[in-house]
Amino acid sequence: MRPKIVVVGSSNTDLVVKLPRLPQPGETIIGGTFSMASGGKGGNQAVAAARAGGDVTFIARVGDDHFGRQAIEGYKNDRVDVKSIGVSPGASSGIALIFVDEFGENCIGVASGANNEFSPSDLERASDTLTSADILLLQFEIPLPTVEAAIQTASEAGVRVILNPAPARNLDPELYKLLSVITPNEIETEILTGIHVSDDASIAYAAASLLDRGVSAVIITLGARGAFLAEAGKSEFIPAFKVIPVDTTAAGDVFSGALAVSLGENSSVSDAVRFASAAAALSVTRPGAQPSAPRRDEIEHLLRNG
Ligand code: ATP
Ligand code: RIB
Repeated sequence: MRPKIVVVGSSNTDLVVKLPRLPQPGETIIGGTFSMASGGKGGNQAVAAARAGGDVTFIARVGDDHFGRQAIEGYKNDRVDVKSIGVSPGASSGIALIFVDEFGENCIGVASGANNEFSPSDLERASDTLTSADILLLQFEIPLPTVEAAIQTASEAGVRVILNPAPARNLDPELYKLLSVITPNEIETEILTGIHVSDDASIAYAAASLLDRGVSAVIITLGARGAFLAEAGKSEFIPAFKVIPVDTTAAGDVFSGALAVSLGENSSVSDAVRFASAAAALSVTRPGAQPSAPRRDEIEHLLRNG
């Protein structure tokens, strides 16, 4: 049985320019190459979860434009259920402008467009889907009241909730208790905890401070180093798979999407982090956000062969 995953989040179209290095403020660099692909943290996580083996429904908003229609076609091709994606007349779809350098590092600016019109009432229309899921997966690229309403509704129905707190924002402190897992990267960890993450001790200290808020498991992603997992009374570093990065855009999204599937299949959190790490490592070897998410057989092959 494929686990039922509901993703509540953003859908963007990514306009990507690959350059030898990232521009400084005020600087123009020529000689880049252009590509366009579907993105948005919500969309990326939905596609990553579907390719990893989840039965995925994506609740989102797009604009009434070519970008939005193209994004929805892409989700359908990945067998993501799109019946709860609303279309906002008069709004543009979310657009992300992305620079990627020769080492695969990026910087991103987002015009949220229709994502900003995603309201709690959109969730009411999808409440049966939301409350019958195995896992709810969310991020912070849509209005905070919608994120908070989704967490409340799902957890009241006994659905396990995974929050990828990206980009970092301040969640109602009471809601941390309703989270099964939180997956911040280093920068998000610093913003959420106020603790400067610099070495193993500070990573563990920051994770402990998030556990103290009531989250059941904290997974701090550390890029090419891997991830740090902390649960009550135990913690471990889980190293990343060694790959040559081409484009790290959406590594965190692929990680969270794959993690949701593995947890939905009742793996331990530690095993789910290994599965997610394999998926994310494969994604950084490929360009683009959604195009880079690997299929289940690819993830299992990397897990078997290292
Ligand atoms: P992004 O914002 O680029 O989507 P992120 O900052 O949210 O990513 P990271 O911590 O950079 O998240 O990466 C998430 C996971 O992806 C890591 O924990 C690791 O497992 C994997 N990963 C990222 N970069 C690499 C890399 N260069 N090599 C192997 N695995 C990687
Ligand atoms: O996490 C990567 C995503 O962030 C990109 O696909 C872009 O759309 C932005 O939302």
